[in-house]
Amino acid sequence: MTKDILIAPSILAADFARLGEEVAAIDAAGADWIHCDVMDGHFVPNISYGADVIKAIRPLTSKIFDVHLMIAPVDPYLEAFARAGADIITVHAEAGPHLDRSLQAIRALGKKAGVSLCPSTPESAIEYVLDRLDLVLVMTVNPGFGGQSFLESQFEKITRIRRMIGERPIRLEVDGGITRDNAAAAVAAGADTLVAGSAVFRGNSSADYAGNILAIRGVAESARVPILQDSSAQSRQARETALHR
Ligand code: DX5
Ligand code: ZN
Repeated sequence: MTKDILIAPSILAADFARLGEEVAAIDAAGADWIHCDVMDGHFVPNISYGADVIKAIRPLTSKIFDVHLMIAPVDPYLEAFARAGADIITVHAEAGPHLDRSLQAIRALGKKAGVSLCPSTPESAIEYVLDRLDLVLVMTVNPGFGGQSFLESQFEKITRIRRMIGERPIRLEVDGGITRDNAAAAVAAGADTLVAGSAVFRGNSSADYAGNILAIRGVAESARVPILQDSSAQSRQARETALHR
């Protein structure tokens, strides 16, 4: 059994002076989801945008809004992001002491619930909340900025989480430094959903973005592995092949 690969461009890399046009362009370019990075200058060392900006761009596309909250505390703001039009709300496991409660709150708001892990956080952080999850987001850079280099140390974690997920209907997303050169390896490790900021928003037209999405999707789909029969060794081999393709 395999899952379709989804591409989620991060609008952190968009031209903020023309944000509405950029959202429309990325929609027309074939984005599956719109990835929204919310940063508070406290949990991460950068400030991006909040619920009002998400609300303003919500009418411009019917695509899924995949909202990645890099904020702490997070619980007091969940309702605002739900009201702003988020479809998936992802919180960081490191953002507070009560992850289980945050995930329950997201589902109680009628939204899909995700949890994100920073590079240094082990997969065991989600072991006891798996049945509350619709998405796991593995950070492949330290969160806070676009345009950083992909951390290969995360491949092993992606493969382990793929095994933990088993047959549950949970998407496994990777975020940070994804390009057409490493997308296949991320998928071979077990990812099925790819966030990409700078690699998608290269160029300045919807046609450029479409070409970028197509290139990432092409290499990613060629690396899809049968996830239920997947063993760690098989996955490692597929990753090696993908990296040296
Ligand atoms: C980083 C964000 C990412 C980032 C991805 O904290 O969570 O979504 O925007 O940007 P690139 O693809 O440029 O690394
Ligand atoms: Zn993100």
